[in-house]
Amino acid sequence: MELLSKTLARVKPSPTIAVTQKAAELKAAGKDVIGLGAGEPDFDTPQNIKDAGIAAITAGKTKYTAVDGIPELKQAICVKFKRDNGLDYTPSQVSVGTGGKQILYNALVATMNPGEEVVIPAPYWVSYPDMVLLAGGTPVIAPATLENDFKLTPEALEEAITPNTKWFIFNSPSNPTGAGYSWDELKALTDVLMRHPQVWVMTDDMYEHLAYDDFKFCTPAQVEPALYDRTLTVNGVSKAYAMTGWRIGYAAGPEKLIGAMRKVQSQSTSNPCTVSQWAAVEALNGTQDYIAENNKMFTRRRNLVVDMLNEIDGVICPKPEGAFYVYPSIAGLIGKTTPSGITITDDEVFATALLEDTGVAVVFGAAFGLSPNFRISYATSDETLKEACMRLQKFCAALS
Ligand SMILES: Cc1ncc(COP(=O)(O)O)c(C=O)c1O
Repeated sequence: MELLSKTLARVKPSPTIAVTQKAAELKAAGKDVIGLGAGEPDFDTPQNIKDAGIAAITAGKTKYTAVDGIPELKQAICVKFKRDNGLDYTPSQVSVGTGGKQILYNALVATMNPGEEVVIPAPYWVSYPDMVLLAGGTPVIAPATLENDFKLTPEALEEAITPNTKWFIFNSPSNPTGAGYSWDELKALTDVLMRHPQVWVMTDDMYEHLAYDDFKFCTPAQVEPALYDRTLTVNGVSKAYAMTGWRIGYAAGPEKLIGAMRKVQSQSTSNPCTVSQWAAVEALNGTQDYIAENNKMFTRRRNLVVDMLNEIDGVICPKPEGAFYVYPSIAGLIGKTTPSGITITDDEVFATALLEDTGVAVVFGAAFGLSPNFRISYATSDETLKEACMRLQKFCAALS
């Protein structure tokens, strides 16, 4: 009997984690590596949040809690949804898990049956299709294009929906492109969803607060209130509050779904880390001032990277509305050859040659479902980004 399950055989390990690991290995071997693969802010968790975690430990808040979150955090989440998104939820409609990742996974495991489909716009966050597969469903990829700034058109959404579609996964601002949908762009998609009452909406709002220039974040249940009863609004503290290691994510939606997600969590991991939950209460209830400060820094870094990449012949880099990623196209470099004789046949070859020749680690576009592109995370210092972009410029200029 084969040891590993057939379901697992359909799943790939996370390529973004693989790139980060490869870069770390090269660094440990003494190579001058600049890692632009990691999807986390480069600054520390704010002190008031750390203090809340320390206070929780000191006060002995170190035991099991209710499976899907302490009442204080659920209350803070309800207040956040009202304050930031104009959405009314009660604590019984809220689920807290070990990162946004577990919340998304719980929702899929709680709802998918064989043969049921999930529409995922590409480029997508690497985990969506594999989570759907792990949950026993079928991912259906709906392509977005560079020409449309990596945003899904209503036509492409309509085309991807079938009678078997159970979920539509939506992510704005997006990982890996940074693309953020305006109210009107999102309304055009929710209009399509209104014509398909069997489709539920899983909106991943993890990058809500990382929004630049005059971009205004919006979320499906806010843009189309008629979708409220079939929307799971997912969010978390990882990105906005530099809390990736604390592992707290949350969602709000219909009680029946939240109860099913609780059941999955109760038989797998139980409650998310108690100390982290108390820190998350402070993140949501405490000052939000540093978000605007951080966004100034991210805006500057985004502009630096976009400008330097667009100076390269053969590279096109749209300027995204949010998150901390850019997703340049290298269509103009395909077929060219490096001085060491490697022909750039696709974005994976490009990323490997770039890492080996220059020490710059990026994630190739095929991992996110749209090629030929690569993803840069610009959540690192200006100096590091300048140096990385200079190496990229030199590497591309040497192609013939
Ligand atoms: C789009 C998106 N959703 C969800 C997550 C998961 O977040 P968490 O670290 O809270 O599990 C990430 C993390 O990279 C992400 O980029």
